[in-house]
Amino acid sequence: MALPQPLADLEAVLTETARAVEHLLDELLPLPTGPEARVVEAMRHAVFAGGKRIRPFLVVCSADLFDVPRTQSLRVAAAIEMVHTYSLVHDDLPAMDDDDLRRGKPTVHVKFDEATAILAGDALLTRAFEVLADPNASPDPQIRADLVLALARAAGAQGMVGGQMIDILTEGTSLNVGQITRMQQLKTGALISFACEAGAVLGQARMRERHALLAYAHDLGLAFQIADDLLDVAGSAAEVGKRTGKDEARGKANFVSLLGVSGAGQQADMLSTQAVGHLDSFGVKGGLLRELAAFVIKRRA
Ligand code: IPE
Ligand code: IPE
Ligand code: MG
Ligand code: MG
Ligand code: MG
Repeated sequence: MALPQPLADLEAVLTETARAVEHLLDELLPLPTGPEARVVEAMRHAVFAGGKRIRPFLVVCSADLFDVPRTQSLRVAAAIEMVHTYSLVHDDLPAMDDDDLRRGKPTVHVKFDEATAILAGDALLTRAFEVLADPNASPDPQIRADLVLALARAAGAQGMVGGQMIDILTEGTSLNVGQITRMQQLKTGALISFACEAGAVLGQARMRERHALLAYAHDLGLAFQIADDLLDVAGSAAEVGKRTGKDEARGKANFVSLLGVSGAGQQADMLSTQAVGHLDSFGVKGGLLRELAAFVIKRRA
Protein backbone atom coordinates (compact mmCIF):
# COMPACT_ATOMS: atom_id res chain seq x y z
CA MET A 1 0.00 0.00 0.00
CA ALA A 2 1.23 3.46 -0.89
CA LEU A 3 1.84 5.91 1.93
CA PRO A 4 -0.54 8.87 1.74
CA GLN A 5 1.08 12.05 0.47
CA PRO A 6 1.25 14.91 3.00
CA LEU A 7 -1.68 17.33 3.07
CA ALA A 8 0.54 20.23 2.02
CA ASP A 9 0.93 18.52 -1.35
CA LEU A 10 -2.82 18.15 -1.66
CA GLU A 11 -3.40 21.82 -0.97
CA ALA A 12 -0.80 22.82 -3.56
CA VAL A 13 -2.41 20.56 -6.18
CA LEU A 14 -5.91 21.79 -5.26
CA THR A 15 -4.75 25.38 -5.83
CA GLU A 16 -3.00 24.51 -9.07
CA THR A 17 -6.07 22.69 -10.44
CA ALA A 18 -8.34 25.54 -9.32
CA ARG A 19 -6.17 28.05 -11.20
CA ALA A 20 -6.20 25.90 -14.36
CA VAL A 21 -9.98 25.48 -14.31
CA GLU A 22 -10.52 29.17 -13.56
CA HIS A 23 -8.37 30.10 -16.55
CA LEU A 24 -10.55 27.90 -18.76
CA LEU A 25 -13.80 29.17 -17.20
CA ASP A 26 -12.66 32.69 -18.05
CA GLU A 27 -12.29 31.65 -21.70
CA LEU A 28 -15.61 29.80 -21.72
CA LEU A 29 -17.63 32.69 -20.28
CA PRO A 30 -16.71 35.73 -22.42
CA LEU A 31 -18.65 38.95 -21.88
CA PRO A 32 -20.87 39.71 -24.87
CA THR A 33 -21.72 43.23 -25.96
CA GLY A 34 -25.29 44.45 -25.77
CA PRO A 35 -27.76 44.46 -22.90
CA GLU A 36 -27.55 40.66 -22.45
CA ALA A 37 -24.05 41.24 -21.02
CA ARG A 38 -25.75 41.67 -17.64
CA VAL A 39 -26.57 37.98 -17.33
CA VAL A 40 -22.99 37.02 -18.17
CA GLU A 41 -21.70 39.54 -15.62
CA ALA A 42 -23.89 37.80 -13.05
CA MET A 43 -22.63 34.35 -14.14
CA ARG A 44 -19.04 35.57 -13.84
CA HIS A 45 -19.73 37.15 -10.46
CA ALA A 46 -20.93 33.77 -9.15
CA VAL A 47 -18.21 31.69 -10.80
CA PHE A 48 -15.23 33.91 -9.95
CA ALA A 49 -16.25 34.78 -6.39
CA GLY A 50 -14.01 31.96 -5.16
CA GLY A 51 -14.95 28.43 -4.20
CA LYS A 52 -12.85 25.41 -3.38
CA ARG A 53 -13.26 23.81 -6.83
CA ILE A 54 -13.52 20.36 -5.24
CA ARG A 55 -15.65 18.92 -8.05
CA PRO A 56 -13.23 20.02 -10.79
CA PHE A 57 -10.42 18.52 -8.72
CA LEU A 58 -12.29 15.20 -8.57
CA VAL A 59 -12.76 15.18 -12.34
CA VAL A 60 -9.09 15.90 -13.00
CA CYS A 61 -7.80 13.41 -10.38
CA SER A 62 -10.10 10.62 -11.52
CA ALA A 63 -9.22 11.26 -15.17
CA ASP A 64 -5.50 11.30 -14.29
CA LEU A 65 -5.90 7.70 -13.06
CA PHE A 66 -6.47 6.74 -16.69
CA ASP A 67 -3.98 9.18 -18.26
CA VAL A 68 -6.69 11.27 -19.90
CA PRO A 69 -5.25 14.45 -21.49
CA ARG A 70 -5.74 17.45 -19.18
CA THR A 71 -7.18 19.45 -22.10
CA GLN A 72 -10.18 17.10 -21.95
CA SER A 73 -10.56 16.65 -18.18
CA LEU A 74 -10.34 20.41 -17.55
CA ARG A 75 -13.24 21.01 -19.94
CA VAL A 76 -15.39 18.53 -18.04
CA ALA A 77 -14.15 20.08 -14.78
CA ALA A 78 -15.27 23.53 -15.99
CA ALA A 79 -18.67 22.13 -16.97
CA ILE A 80 -19.34 20.62 -13.56
CA GLU A 81 -18.21 23.78 -11.79
CA MET A 82 -20.77 25.70 -13.89
CA VAL A 83 -23.55 23.32 -12.84
CA HIS A 84 -22.45 23.45 -9.19
CA THR A 85 -22.30 27.26 -9.27
CA TYR A 86 -25.77 27.41 -10.81
CA SER A 87 -27.04 25.19 -7.98
CA LEU A 88 -25.58 27.64 -5.44
CA VAL A 89 -27.07 30.72 -7.16
CA HIS A 90 -30.53 29.13 -7.06
CA ASP A 91 -30.01 27.65 -3.56
CA ASP A 92 -29.41 31.19 -2.25
CA LEU A 93 -32.56 32.71 -3.79
CA PRO A 94 -35.20 34.13 -1.41
CA ALA A 95 -37.56 31.28 -2.40
CA MET A 96 -34.98 28.73 -1.29
CA ASP A 97 -32.41 29.32 1.50
CA ASP A 98 -32.60 33.12 1.20
CA ASP A 99 -28.91 33.91 1.66
CA ASP A 100 -27.09 37.18 1.07
CA LEU A 101 -23.48 35.96 1.23
CA ARG A 102 -21.78 33.33 -0.91
CA ARG A 103 -18.07 32.66 -1.39
CA GLY A 104 -17.43 35.79 0.66
CA LYS A 105 -19.37 38.04 -1.74
CA PRO A 106 -22.98 39.23 -2.00
CA THR A 107 -25.18 36.56 -3.58
CA VAL A 108 -26.22 37.12 -7.20
CA HIS A 109 -29.80 38.18 -6.42
CA VAL A 110 -28.47 40.73 -3.92
CA LYS A 111 -25.76 42.13 -6.18
CA PHE A 112 -27.99 42.07 -9.29
CA ASP A 113 -31.66 41.10 -8.83
CA GLU A 114 -33.76 37.94 -8.60
CA ALA A 115 -34.63 37.69 -12.28
CA THR A 116 -30.96 38.04 -13.21
CA ALA A 117 -29.99 35.38 -10.64
CA ILE A 118 -32.54 32.92 -12.06
CA LEU A 119 -31.34 33.59 -15.60
CA ALA A 120 -27.65 33.39 -14.63
CA GLY A 121 -28.31 29.98 -13.07
CA ASP A 122 -30.19 28.80 -16.15
CA ALA A 123 -27.43 30.00 -18.45
CA LEU A 124 -24.66 28.35 -16.38
CA LEU A 125 -26.55 25.06 -16.55
CA THR A 126 -27.06 25.20 -20.30
CA ARG A 127 -23.52 26.43 -20.98
CA ALA A 128 -22.20 23.38 -19.10
CA PHE A 129 -23.98 21.02 -21.50
CA GLU A 130 -22.72 23.03 -24.47
CA VAL A 131 -19.17 22.58 -23.18
CA LEU A 132 -19.64 18.81 -22.75
CA ALA A 133 -21.17 18.40 -26.21
CA ASP A 134 -18.31 20.34 -27.85
CA PRO A 135 -15.68 18.08 -29.49
CA ASN A 136 -12.97 19.77 -27.38
CA ALA A 137 -14.31 17.80 -24.39
CA SER A 138 -13.49 14.53 -26.16
CA PRO A 139 -12.94 13.66 -29.82
CA ASP A 140 -15.09 10.54 -29.31
CA PRO A 141 -18.83 11.31 -29.82
CA GLN A 142 -19.86 8.30 -27.69
CA ILE A 143 -17.84 9.62 -24.75
CA ARG A 144 -19.41 13.07 -25.14
CA ALA A 145 -22.91 11.57 -25.24
CA ASP A 146 -22.13 9.47 -22.13
CA LEU A 147 -20.92 12.57 -20.27
CA VAL A 148 -24.02 14.56 -21.24
CA LEU A 149 -26.30 11.71 -20.15
CA ALA A 150 -24.51 11.22 -16.82
CA LEU A 151 -24.51 14.95 -15.98
CA ALA A 152 -28.18 15.32 -16.94
CA ARG A 153 -29.07 12.46 -14.60
CA ALA A 154 -26.90 13.81 -11.76
CA ALA A 155 -28.23 17.37 -11.99
CA GLY A 156 -31.94 16.78 -12.56
CA ALA A 157 -34.97 15.58 -10.63
CA GLN A 158 -33.35 12.17 -10.04
CA GLY A 159 -30.26 13.93 -8.66
CA MET A 160 -29.39 17.38 -7.30
CA VAL A 161 -32.72 19.07 -8.09
CA GLY A 162 -34.61 16.15 -6.52
CA GLY A 163 -32.49 16.45 -3.36
CA GLN A 164 -33.08 20.20 -3.19
CA MET A 165 -36.82 19.58 -3.45
CA ILE A 166 -36.68 17.19 -0.48
CA ASP A 167 -34.51 19.67 1.48
CA ILE A 168 -37.08 22.45 1.01
CA LEU A 169 -40.14 20.22 1.55
CA THR A 170 -38.83 18.76 4.80
CA GLU A 171 -37.88 22.05 6.50
CA GLY A 172 -39.33 21.95 10.01
CA THR A 173 -39.78 18.17 10.05
CA SER A 174 -37.51 15.43 11.35
CA LEU A 175 -36.21 12.71 9.06
CA ASN A 176 -34.68 9.35 9.94
CA VAL A 177 -31.15 8.27 8.98
CA GLY A 178 -32.30 6.62 5.78
CA GLN A 179 -34.30 9.64 4.64
CA ILE A 180 -31.48 12.08 5.40
CA THR A 181 -28.94 9.87 3.66
CA ARG A 182 -31.08 9.70 0.54
CA MET A 183 -31.65 13.47 0.50
CA GLN A 184 -27.91 14.21 0.92
CA GLN A 185 -26.99 11.65 -1.69
CA LEU A 186 -29.25 13.38 -4.17
CA LYS A 187 -28.60 17.04 -3.40
CA THR A 188 -24.81 16.82 -2.97
CA GLY A 189 -23.74 13.25 -3.69
CA ALA A 190 -25.05 13.06 -7.24
CA LEU A 191 -22.78 15.82 -8.62
CA ILE A 192 -19.80 14.50 -6.66
CA SER A 193 -20.44 11.06 -8.13
CA PHE A 194 -20.61 12.55 -11.61
CA ALA A 195 -17.26 14.27 -11.02
CA CYS A 196 -15.59 10.95 -10.18
CA GLU A 197 -17.42 8.98 -12.86
CA ALA A 198 -16.49 11.53 -15.51
CA GLY A 199 -12.82 10.61 -15.19
CA ALA A 200 -13.72 6.95 -15.75
CA VAL A 201 -15.91 7.83 -18.75
CA LEU A 202 -13.19 9.97 -20.34
CA GLY A 203 -10.63 7.23 -19.66
CA GLN A 204 -12.90 4.42 -20.84
CA ALA A 205 -12.19 2.66 -17.58
CA ARG A 206 -13.17 -0.93 -16.90
CA MET A 207 -16.40 -1.55 -14.99
CA ARG A 208 -14.48 -2.59 -11.87
CA GLU A 209 -12.59 0.71 -11.81
CA ARG A 210 -15.76 2.69 -12.47
CA HIS A 211 -17.52 0.96 -9.58
CA ALA A 212 -14.59 1.61 -7.22
CA LEU A 213 -14.70 5.33 -8.07
CA LEU A 214 -18.47 5.48 -7.62
CA ALA A 215 -18.25 3.73 -4.24
CA TYR A 216 -15.58 6.26 -3.18
CA ALA A 217 -17.73 9.15 -4.41
CA HIS A 218 -20.79 7.85 -2.57
CA ASP A 219 -19.04 7.95 0.81
CA LEU A 220 -17.13 11.15 0.02
CA GLY A 221 -20.32 12.99 -0.99
CA LEU A 222 -22.07 12.12 2.27
CA ALA A 223 -19.00 13.04 4.34
CA PHE A 224 -18.73 16.31 2.41
CA GLN A 225 -22.32 17.36 3.16
CA ILE A 226 -21.98 16.41 6.85
CA ALA A 227 -18.87 18.64 7.01
CA ASP A 228 -20.92 21.43 5.42
CA ASP A 229 -23.69 20.95 7.99
CA LEU A 230 -21.12 20.96 10.83
CA LEU A 231 -19.58 24.19 9.50
CA ASP A 232 -23.04 25.75 9.57
CA VAL A 233 -23.07 25.09 13.32
CA ALA A 234 -19.44 25.67 14.25
CA GLY A 235 -17.97 27.89 11.50
CA SER A 236 -18.06 31.66 11.07
CA ALA A 237 -19.15 33.63 8.00
CA ALA A 238 -15.62 35.09 7.80
CA GLU A 239 -14.16 31.59 7.49
CA VAL A 240 -16.71 29.86 5.27
CA GLY A 241 -17.78 32.83 3.14
CA LYS A 242 -21.49 32.23 3.75
CA ARG A 243 -23.86 32.83 6.65
CA THR A 244 -23.72 30.19 9.37
CA GLY A 245 -26.22 29.09 12.01
CA LYS A 246 -28.97 29.07 9.41
CA ASP A 247 -29.83 25.38 9.16
CA GLU A 248 -31.18 25.15 12.69
CA ALA A 249 -33.04 28.45 12.27
CA ARG A 250 -34.74 27.12 9.12
CA GLY A 251 -35.40 23.70 10.66
CA LYS A 252 -33.27 21.80 8.13
CA ALA A 253 -33.13 18.06 8.72
CA ASN A 254 -29.55 16.78 8.51
CA PHE A 255 -27.10 14.53 10.36
CA VAL A 256 -26.30 17.31 12.83
CA SER A 257 -29.96 17.83 13.76
CA LEU A 258 -30.39 14.05 14.06
CA LEU A 259 -27.13 12.91 15.73
CA GLY A 260 -25.75 16.10 17.28
CA VAL A 261 -22.36 17.64 16.52
CA SER A 262 -20.27 14.81 17.89
CA GLY A 263 -22.41 12.04 16.38
CA ALA A 264 -22.36 13.73 12.98
CA GLY A 265 -18.59 14.20 13.25
CA GLN A 266 -18.13 10.49 13.93
CA GLN A 267 -20.34 9.64 10.97
CA ALA A 268 -18.23 11.89 8.71
CA ASP A 269 -14.99 10.27 9.99
CA MET A 270 -16.40 6.81 9.33
CA LEU A 271 -17.52 7.74 5.80
CA SER A 272 -14.16 9.32 4.99
CA THR A 273 -12.30 6.17 6.10
CA GLN A 274 -14.73 4.03 4.15
CA ALA A 275 -14.24 6.20 1.04
CA VAL A 276 -10.46 5.64 1.17
CA GLY A 277 -11.00 1.89 1.43
CA HIS A 278 -12.55 1.83 -2.05
CA LEU A 279 -9.35 3.14 -3.66
CA ASP A 280 -7.06 0.22 -2.83
CA SER A 281 -6.99 -1.12 -6.37
CA PHE A 282 -5.56 2.20 -7.66
CA GLY A 283 -2.40 1.89 -5.52
CA VAL A 284 -0.09 4.91 -5.49
CA LYS A 285 -2.12 6.64 -8.20
CA GLY A 286 -5.03 7.05 -5.78
CA GLY A 287 -2.93 9.13 -3.34
CA LEU A 288 -4.54 12.52 -3.95
CA LEU A 289 -8.08 11.12 -3.84
CA ARG A 290 -7.22 9.49 -0.49
CA GLU A 291 -5.89 12.79 0.83
CA LEU A 292 -9.00 14.57 -0.39
CA ALA A 293 -11.22 12.26 1.68
CA ALA A 294 -9.29 13.36 4.79
CA PHE A 295 -9.36 17.01 3.71
CA VAL A 296 -13.12 17.29 3.18
CA ILE A 297 -13.89 16.44 6.80
CA LYS A 298 -11.10 18.63 8.26
CA ARG A 299 -11.77 21.70 6.15
CA ARG A 300 -12.67 25.02 7.77
CA ALA A 301 -14.36 26.45 4.67
C1 IPE B 1 -21.46 24.03 -1.04
O1 IPE B 1 -20.50 23.39 -1.82
C2 IPE B 1 -22.78 23.38 -1.23
C3 IPE B 1 -22.81 21.97 -0.88
C4 IPE B 1 -23.18 21.08 -1.72
C5 IPE B 1 -22.42 21.53 0.45
P1 IPE B 1 -18.96 23.74 -1.67
O2 IPE B 1 -18.57 23.70 -0.22
O3 IPE B 1 -18.18 22.91 -2.61
O4 IPE B 1 -18.93 25.27 -2.14
P2 IPE B 1 -17.78 26.07 -2.91
O5 IPE B 1 -17.83 25.63 -4.34
O6 IPE B 1 -16.47 25.77 -2.27
O7 IPE B 1 -18.20 27.51 -2.75
C1 IPE C 1 -26.96 22.97 -0.95
O1 IPE C 1 -26.88 22.57 0.37
C2 IPE C 1 -26.67 21.89 -1.85
C3 IPE C 1 -26.88 22.32 -3.26
C4 IPE C 1 -27.31 21.49 -4.12
C5 IPE C 1 -26.60 23.68 -3.69
P1 IPE C 1 -26.79 23.79 1.37
O2 IPE C 1 -27.98 24.68 1.27
O3 IPE C 1 -26.45 23.26 2.74
O4 IPE C 1 -25.51 24.57 0.80
P2 IPE C 1 -24.95 25.90 1.41
O5 IPE C 1 -24.66 25.63 2.87
O6 IPE C 1 -25.98 26.96 1.21
O7 IPE C 1 -23.69 26.12 0.63
MG1 MG D 1 -29.92 24.54 0.60
MG1 MG E 1 -27.99 26.87 1.25
MG1 MG F 1 -25.09 24.14 4.09
